[in-house]
Amino acid sequence: MKSLKGKTAIVTGASRGLGVVIAEALAREGVNLILTARSEAPLREVAARLSRLGVDARVVAADVADARGREQIIAAARDELGPIDILVNNAGIEAIGRYEATDPETIEKLVLVNVVAPMLLTRALLPEMLARRSGQIVTISSLAAKKGLPYNSVYAATKAAATSWAWGLREELHGTGVRSSVISPGFISDSGMFSEYDTKAHWVAGESKPESVGEAVVAALTRDKAELIVSPGPIKLMLLLDAMSPSLTSWFFRRIGLYQFYRKLAELVEARPD
Ligand SMILES: NC(=O)c1ccc[n+]([C@@H]2O[C@H](COP(=O)([O-])OP(=O)(O)OC[C@H]3O[C@@H](n4cnc5c(N)ncnc54)[C@H](OP(=O)(O)O)[C@@H]3O)[C@@H](O)[C@H]2O)c1
Repeated sequence: MKSLKGKTAIVTGASRGLGVVIAEALAREGVNLILTARSEAPLREVAARLSRLGVDARVVAADVADARGREQIIAAARDELGPIDILVNNAGIEAIGRYEATDPETIEKLVLVNVVAPMLLTRALLPEMLARRSGQIVTISSLAAKKGLPYNSVYAATKAAATSWAWGLREELHGTGVRSSVISPGFISDSGMFSEYDTKAHWVAGESKPESVGEAVVAALTRDKAELIVSPGPIKLMLLLDAMSPSLTSWFFRRIGLYQFYRKLAELVEARPD
């Protein structure tokens, strides 16, 4: 198992939710951090707390959907803590709701934040990682990547794209010393985007604690795992069934109320005041 002590990582989406937990898991391994998101004040609070664990934690407030924002992140990371050993592509957004009621701008934003940003941040760092024959890219995808989901179809599609890209990159980089891994969490309780709905997850995927995602990132990095699924539910069996018969899995998911669960989430979102 590889030690991470003294390495430097960029963690995107580190102002709240899973990014904070991932950053803390890395800090506990002795990893110095560039924490980035758009909201500067919470980033500074996270950096101050993690610095007390004895690592160097810096902050870059920037929008990953924007080319200028991505340049700022890479430039600040290089100047302040470079060279960068690890990139955790964690920043992500979702849009639960009826597809026909989803704004075109929202659809574009999901693709930019969940797909284009991880690809281009990685593209910017890869030449120097390849030159050093060392580096690791970890992309936080989702179980939603595994099958199109009603009332969450754009998010599921962006995560499918991110997972496919991360796997393709891993194969392309084989033997170069640079690695790509993907983490696929199901529903996460207590912190992050799902916890905001104030509802229990559907049993088929179950709920995991945010710390499980932090542990998965550390495991991916120290044990070079290609993909780690974070879910206590019988999901691997479902994925096997889906590979054999997608229609049968769809029928089963409908029967057990998974799709109705998403419709209820969409109704909750639509009922929210603007
Ligand atoms: N929570 C779950 O149940 C769950 C399950 C599976 C997968 N995931 C994945 O886990 C990752 C983290 O999700 P989360 O649950 O922690 O979500 P979250 O609580 O909503 O946090 C999202 C983070 O991304 C940042 N972000 C959003 N848009 C950004 C932008 N344009 N530029 C820069 N930063 C941006 C946010 O910071 P600012 O708003 O300050 O920019 C925030 O730090 C996502 O990729 C998500 O898809 C989550």
